[in-house]
Amino acid sequence: MRAILLGLLLCTASAAHADPAEEIARGEMLATIGDCGGCHTTDSARPFAGGKRIETPFGTITAPNLTSDRDTGIGAWSDDDFRRALREGVAPNGARYYPVFPYPHFTKLVRNDILAIRSYLASLPAVSNKVASPELRFPYGYRPLLRLWNYVFLKPGLFEPDQGKSAEWNRGGYLVEGLGHCGACHTPKNLFGAEKRRAAYRGSRVAGWFAPRLDNAPRSGLKRWSVDDIVDYLKTGRNAKSHTAGPMAEVIARSTSKMEAADLRAIAVYLKELPAGSSEATISPPSDATMIAGQTVYARACISCHQADGTGAPGVTPPLPGNALLQSGDPLSTLRVVLDGTQNAVMTRAPNAPPMPAYARELTDQQIADVATYIRNAWGNAAPTVSADDVRRIRP
Ligand code: HEC
Ligand code: HEC
Ligand code: HEC
Repeated sequence: MRAILLGLLLCTASAAHADPAEEIARGEMLATIGDCGGCHTTDSARPFAGGKRIETPFGTITAPNLTSDRDTGIGAWSDDDFRRALREGVAPNGARYYPVFPYPHFTKLVRNDILAIRSYLASLPAVSNKVASPELRFPYGYRPLLRLWNYVFLKPGLFEPDQGKSAEWNRGGYLVEGLGHCGACHTPKNLFGAEKRRAAYRGSRVAGWFAPRLDNAPRSGLKRWSVDDIVDYLKTGRNAKSHTAGPMAEVIARSTSKMEAADLRAIAVYLKELPAGSSEATISPPSDATMIAGQTVYARACISCHQADGTGAPGVTPPLPGNALLQSGDPLSTLRVVLDGTQNAVMTRAPNAPPMPAYARELTDQQIADVATYIRNAWGNAAPTVSADDVRRIRP
C-alpha cells in the first residue's frame, strides 16, 4: 500500500516538474490528434482564435476563441475550468455546451493529456476575437435544456482499458473513442443529435457526405481493409482500396497524417477488432435495363480513367470493385463525387494525376442515378439502387 502511494506521489511530482517545452510539444500533438484546430482555427495566422461556423440540425454554432486572451478567450480560466469543459461539457459559469463540441468523446481523456493541451494553448499568442453567439432554432437556443441532454445522453468517464487486450488495442481505443472522436461523424445520431451507442460506427451523413461504416461489415465496412490499408489511408488519404475526397480529406490533412506511426497502427488495430455490426441490407438486384443504361453512361464518361473492369490505376484512380464507400447503404458520398468531381479535394492525388471531373452539368439526374446504380452493382458489388430523385435532392 505504501509503495503504491509513494509511486503515485512520485508520478505527480515528476508530472509537475515535466520540462515545459516537452509538455507544450506533447500538448500540440494531442491537439492535432483531437483536431481542435479543425473547428477552433479559421485563420492560420491566428491559431485557435475561434470562428468556424458549424451547421448542425439545430442551427449554427461558432467555435469559440481558445487563446489566452482574458476577455474573449480562456485566459482567465483555471486548469479545472478547462478540465470541466472537456470532460463534462460545463462552462465556468455552469452553462452547458452543445455537443457539436465533441466533449462526449473528450470525457474519456486523462488529466495529464488535458493539462498538456492546456499548456500548449497557453503558449500561443493571445488574440482578441469575440465569436458570434449560436443561432439555433427554438427551443434549442435555450441552454438549460442541455442539462437534460447531458443527463440522458452523456456518459461521462475515462476510457476503460481492457486488460484482456494488447496495449496497442487499448491505445487505439483511447484515440478512436476519445481524442480522435471518430464516432462524431461515423456513428448515426438520434433525433436529439446524440450518437446511437448501439449503432456505433455504422455510418452517418455529415456535411453533405456519407461517412461510411468503420465496423467489420463485409461489403460496406472495413472487413476487406488490412491494418496497413487503414494506416496508409489515414497517413496519405489514399490506399489500394479507396481515395478520400470529402470531409475525411480535411481530417487526414490536419490530423491523422501528422500522427505518429505507432498511433496510426493502434487506431487500425482497434478498428479491425470492431465487430461486424448489424448485417447489411439485403438487396434486390437492379433490373437489366437499369444496368445497361448505367453501363452506357459509364462507357462514355468514366471508362477512360476507371477502366472497363473498374480497377482504375494503382495510386492514381481508386478501384471500384469491392469499394466499401461505394457499396454503402447510403449513396450520398458517391453521388457527391460524381456531381462535384474532386478538383477541390484536399490532398488526395498522386503528383500530376488529374482530378475527377464534375458531372453535375454533363449528365442528367437519371444518368447519374443509372451510372451510380451500375458501379454499385457491377463486378460483384452489391448496394441498393439509386433513383433520379436521390440525385435531384442533393444537386448543387
Ligand atoms: C467539431 C468541432 C470541434 C472540435 C473538433 C473541437 N471543438 Fe472545442 N468547441 C466547439 C464548439 C462549437 C464549441 C462551443 C460550444 C457551445 O457554444 O456550446 C466548443 C467549445 C470549446 C471550449 C469552451 C470554450 C469557451 O469559451 O467556453 C473549449 C475549452 C474547447 N472547445 C476546447 C477544445 C479542445 C481542447 C479541442 C480538441 C481536443 C476541441 N475543443 C475540439 C467545437 C469543436
Ligand atoms: C479523369 C479521370 C476520371 C474520370 C473521367 C472519372 N473519374 Fe472517378 N475518380 C477519379 C479519381 C482520380 C478519383 C479519386 C479522387 C481523387 O484522387 O481526386 C475518382 C474517384 C471516384 C469515386 C470514389 C471512389 C472511392 O474510393 O471512394 C467514384 C465512385 C468515382 N470516381 C466514380 C466515377 C464515375 C461514375 C465516373 C463517370 C461518370 C468517373 N468516376 C469518372 C478519376 C476519374
Ligand atoms: C468530420 C467528420 C469525420 C471525422 C471526425 C472522421 N471521419 Fe472518417 N470519414 C468521413 C467521411 C465523410 C468519409 C467519406 C470519405 C471522404 O470524406 O473522403 C470518411 C472516410 C473514412 C474512411 C474510409 C472508409 C472507406 O470505406 O472508404 C476511414 C478508414 C475513416 N474515415 C476513418 C476515420 C477515423 C479512424 C477517424 C477518427 C480518427 C475518422 N475517420 C474521423 C468523416 C469523418
